[in-house]
Amino acid sequence: MSDDEQALPYAQRKTGDVPGHWLLARLGKRVLRPGGLGLTRQLLDHAGIGGSEIVELAPGLGRTAMEILSRGPASYIGVEKDEDAARLSARAVGSVGTVVQADAAQTGLPDASADIVIGEAMLTMQSDTVKRAIVAEAARILRPGGRYAIHELGLHPDDLDPAIKTELRKDLARVIKVNARPQTMIEWRALLEEAGLVVDWTETAPMALLRMRRNVADEGIRGTARIIRNVLRDKDARDRVLRMRALFRQHGHTLRGVALIAHRPSAGGAGR
Ligand SMILES: C[S@@+](CC[C@H](N)C(=O)[O-])C[C@H]1O[C@@H](n2cnc3c(N)ncnc32)[C@H](O)[C@@H]1O
Repeated sequence: MSDDEQALPYAQRKTGDVPGHWLLARLGKRVLRPGGLGLTRQLLDHAGIGGSEIVELAPGLGRTAMEILSRGPASYIGVEKDEDAARLSARAVGSVGTVVQADAAQTGLPDASADIVIGEAMLTMQSDTVKRAIVAEAARILRPGGRYAIHELGLHPDDLDPAIKTELRKDLARVIKVNARPQTMIEWRALLEEAGLVVDWTETAPMALLRMRRNVADEGIRGTARIIRNVLRDKDARDRVLRMRALFRQHGHTLRGVALIAHRPSAGGAGR
């Protein structure tokens, strides 16, 4: 295992037990969210990063942190629960920002201290209760008028049969080893609104995490070639990736990347 791979979360776990996103990271993938870098960039463009004080929940390997920093924020703080990921994202951010190791539901940051809170591919893996706690925490640390920007795994259509939802969640837990609970756009919107936020913008993108074209767009040609080389070398990893890809294909019409931006209204009104 290379030094980079040893620094990753779950590096010492057997391939069969590693959560899907860390398995993909082990194979060289750096963009670990359903709508890819394209949807991330749209999200950041609409959020308005330049000159703003940013908190990113769950920066993971720090890939979005790099995108944020390239847009000239006034400040950057990452809040990452996993010790190894916190160290890796802190290394990616360097001296221009800070990463604290903490739970996104209890960041320890002061009330009304951020202009923008961003979180990608981290609410989906939480129970309904924890989802609500994290969104409430984001709302607490936002200044009035501040914006919460999320990019998560969505379900389509909005009136998807509950039995299909349940079956899909079970399949995801079995194959990616994460209790992923994706939601329809109406459900994501309601989650933010229940915390008193006002949704201003939504967008979707195909869930193409393991498709070749998306990987070339997200990881570049060299990065994609490295991932393919690593997949070919490791049979256990290859079997898992093929199972994940088959599941994503099977549910391709149902799964998608969703992005939403909501603002915290000023006291006494929904306006900014
Ligand atoms: C799928 S990865 C996504 C990483 C990154 N946001 C990205 O899109 O590439 C999920 C990340 O969420 C982090 N995470 C999960 N639950 C968390 C929590 N309650 N508080 C902070 N980080 C959390 C994990 O450690 C991991 O880094």
